[in-house]
Amino acid sequence: MKLIAAVSADWGIGKDNQLLFSLPTDMKFFRTMTKGAAIIMGRRTLESFPGGKPLKGRENIVLSRDPSFCPEGVTVVRTLKDLPERPDAFVIGGEAIYRLLLDRCDTAYITKVDAVAPADRFLPDLDALPDWELAEQGEPIEENGLTFRFLTYRRRQEEAL
Ligand SMILES: NC(=O)c1ccc[n+]([C@@H]2O[C@H](COP(=O)([O-])OP(=O)(O)OC[C@H]3O[C@@H](n4cnc5c(N)ncnc54)[C@H](OP(=O)(O)O)[C@@H]3O)[C@@H](O)[C@H]2O)c1
Repeated sequence: MKLIAAVSADWGIGKDNQLLFSLPTDMKFFRTMTKGAAIIMGRRTLESFPGGKPLKGRENIVLSRDPSFCPEGVTVVRTLKDLPERPDAFVIGGEAIYRLLLDRCDTAYITKVDAVAPADRFLPDLDALPDWELAEQGEPIEENGLTFRFLTYRRRQEEAL
């Protein structure tokens, strides 16, 4: 599976169940990357979307232990063992789900914003994890007074560890 996230300089991803930054170019990148794919998220991330509605043109797979949670247009998964094997799926957050599924991911598309913002949710720092390496780094992009880059991390091959 692949992971996709936008992070601050200290790997913050959200606060009060919202994103930290508004970056239209990053939103476009997210839409392009995930179009037609399965996206896997936690219940709180679904609820952070406008109207709490699933994203169109994608199979929305949502993890929740709450038996009464069954919104329209969503595949609900109650436990990790019921998560379908979907190598092409994108893990789209939030913190709980990134942590749960990081070890199953082989690629992470990280939009790294060169700024910090108060955050209450974080992605593990991939630079500090020995089994991940930075594979590609885009040029800096400026938007809404912020500078960010598109980075690609890959899980190291076992023999390289
Ligand atoms: N920057 C980014 O790229 C990005 C992307 C996505 C989200 N975010 C941000 O991340 C924040 C949300 O993250 P979060 O950690 O609070 O919530 P989350 O990961 O979106 O959802 C957590 C929920 O997932 C369910 N869950 C977790 N582990 C489970 C398991 N093992 N089995 C079944 N269900 C499980 C639980 O739902 P129930 O309580 O219903 O059981 C839990 O409350 C928001 O601020 C959001 O904006 C940022």
